[in-house]
Amino acid sequence: MIGTGYVGLVSGTCLAEVGNDVLCLDVDTRKIDMLKAGGVPIHEPGLQDMIHRNVEAGRLRFTTDVDAAVAHGSLQFIAVGTPPDEDGGADMQHVMAAAAAIGRRMTDYKVIVDKSTVPVGTADRVRETIAAELSARGAKIPFAVVSNPEFLKEGAAVEDFMRPDRIVIGADDDRAIASLRAVYAPFQRNRERLLVMDVRSAELTKYAANAMLATRISFMNELANLADALGADIECVRQGIGSDPRIGWHFLYPGVGYGGSCFPKDVKALQHTATQFGRPLRIMEAVGAANDAQKLRLVEKIVTRLGENLAGRAFALWGLAFKPNTDDMREAPSREIIAALIARGARVVAYDPVAMPEARRLYGDAASITYAATPMEAVSGADGLVVITEWQEFRSPDFDSIGRALRTPLVFDGRNLYEPAQVRAAGLEYFAIGRP
Ligand SMILES: NC(=O)c1ccc[n+]([C@@H]2O[C@H](COP(=O)([O-])OP(=O)(O)OC[C@H]3O[C@@H](n4cnc5c(N)ncnc54)[C@H](O)[C@@H]3O)[C@@H](O)[C@H]2O)c1
Repeated sequence: MIGTGYVGLVSGTCLAEVGNDVLCLDVDTRKIDMLKAGGVPIHEPGLQDMIHRNVEAGRLRFTTDVDAAVAHGSLQFIAVGTPPDEDGGADMQHVMAAAAAIGRRMTDYKVIVDKSTVPVGTADRVRETIAAELSARGAKIPFAVVSNPEFLKEGAAVEDFMRPDRIVIGADDDRAIASLRAVYAPFQRNRERLLVMDVRSAELTKYAANAMLATRISFMNELANLADALGADIECVRQGIGSDPRIGWHFLYPGVGYGGSCFPKDVKALQHTATQFGRPLRIMEAVGAANDAQKLRLVEKIVTRLGENLAGRAFALWGLAFKPNTDDMREAPSREIIAALIARGARVVAYDPVAMPEARRLYGDAASITYAATPMEAVSGADGLVVITEWQEFRSPDFDSIGRALRTPLVFDGRNLYEPAQVRAAGLEYFAIGRP
C-alpha cells in the first residue's frame, strides 16, 4: 500500500483484517515512526483497534523502505495524495513518483492499482511511466495497471471499506481483474458489488460521484439562502423534497458549505479536465462558487446582527473538523469562519471533540484563538455561539445554561441542529441557515 494517509492506512488495515499480508509504505518518516510505535496519525472510528489487532497478528507492517514495499506485493496499491495544482488540476507528482519507483525496482509480474482519485487518462500515464523505467533498465516484465477508485467516507472509513456499496474496477486485463476479484471477495459475501468497466469510465466514476454529492449540497445551500430571503423554512422544504424517492434524503442538508480533502479539489479537477477537453461543466463552476460563498454565510449573519467591527467580541465555536467523526480540517468551513471573525477584530474560543490538536498545529500560538475543554467552557462570556460541525454531542444542549453563560445571547447555527422555537424559549436569538 503506497501512501499511508486516510485512504492507504484504512485500506491497508482492512485488507489485513481479512487475512492479507500488507506492507504500508510512506515517505513521511514521522507518520511511519508513529505507526511503528503503536500510534495512529488520524482519527477514524474503529481504526486504532483494527490496526493493533493486525499488527499483533503480523499481517500489517509499516515502512519507509521503497525496495521492501515493491518487493513485498504482487498487488501495488497507489494511495498517495493528489492535491490541486496551481490551475485547479490534480497534482500528479506523487502518483507518478510511486509509479516510477515500482518500475525501477519490480522483478516479477505486478498489478498496479490506482486507488488515489486521479484524472481520466492517469492509468495510461502510469503504464507509460512504468514501461519507460523497465525499458531504461532493459527489463521485460509483465504488469497491468488497474483503476480502483476509493469511495470511503472519512468518519466512517473502516465501515465503508468493510461494507462497500460498490467496488469499481477499471481494467482491460483478465488476469488483473481476477486478482482484484479475489482481493475484494471477502468484502462482498452477500451479493456481488464489483463493477468491472473500462479504465476511463472507472476514473471518471469517482469524480462523477463526488461532483454529484457536492452539487446536491450547493443546490440546497443556495435554496436555503433563497428561503432566508423569502421567509420560508428550508427544513420543511427539505422534508418536502427528500420524501420523493426520485430525490431521496441524502446530502440535502443546508449548512456552511462542504470542505475536506476531496469535494473541493475533485470539483476543481473535474472542471479542469472538462475544460481541457473542450466540454466545460457549467454546473460545476456554479457548485464551486456557491460553496465558496456559503462558507461565509454565518459570518454574514453575524455581521448583519453585530456590525462589521467585531473588535472586543468573543465567539464560541463548536466544531472545527470539516465534518463529524474526523479530525481532518483540510478546507474546513471553520477555517474561513475563524479567519473572517479574527480579521474583524474578534476572538475565538473553540471546542471540538477531536480536532483541537489539529487546530493547534495549524494556528500555533495565535492569540486570537484559544481552546476550551468543554462546549460550555467555550460559551462562557462569549458574544455568540457559532455551531460549525454537527457532532452528536452538540445536538441536544441545555439552552438555559447556554443563555446564562453567554454575554450576548446569540446562537448562529451553521448546521440547522436546533428547533428555533426551543432555542428562543430560552431567551436566545437564533440564526440558522434558511430558517425564519
Ligand atoms: N480522504 C478521503 O476521504 C478520500 C476518499 C476517497 C479517495 N481519496 C483519494 O485518495 C488519495 C489519498 O487521499 P488521502 O486523504 O489518503 O491523502 P493523505 O494526504 O491523507 O495521504 C497521502 C499519503 O501519501 C504519502 N505519499 C506521498 N507520496 C508518496 C510516495 N511517493 N510514496 C509513498 N507515500 C507517499 C503522503 O506522505 C501521505 O501520507 C487522494 O487522491 C484522495 O483524493 C480520499
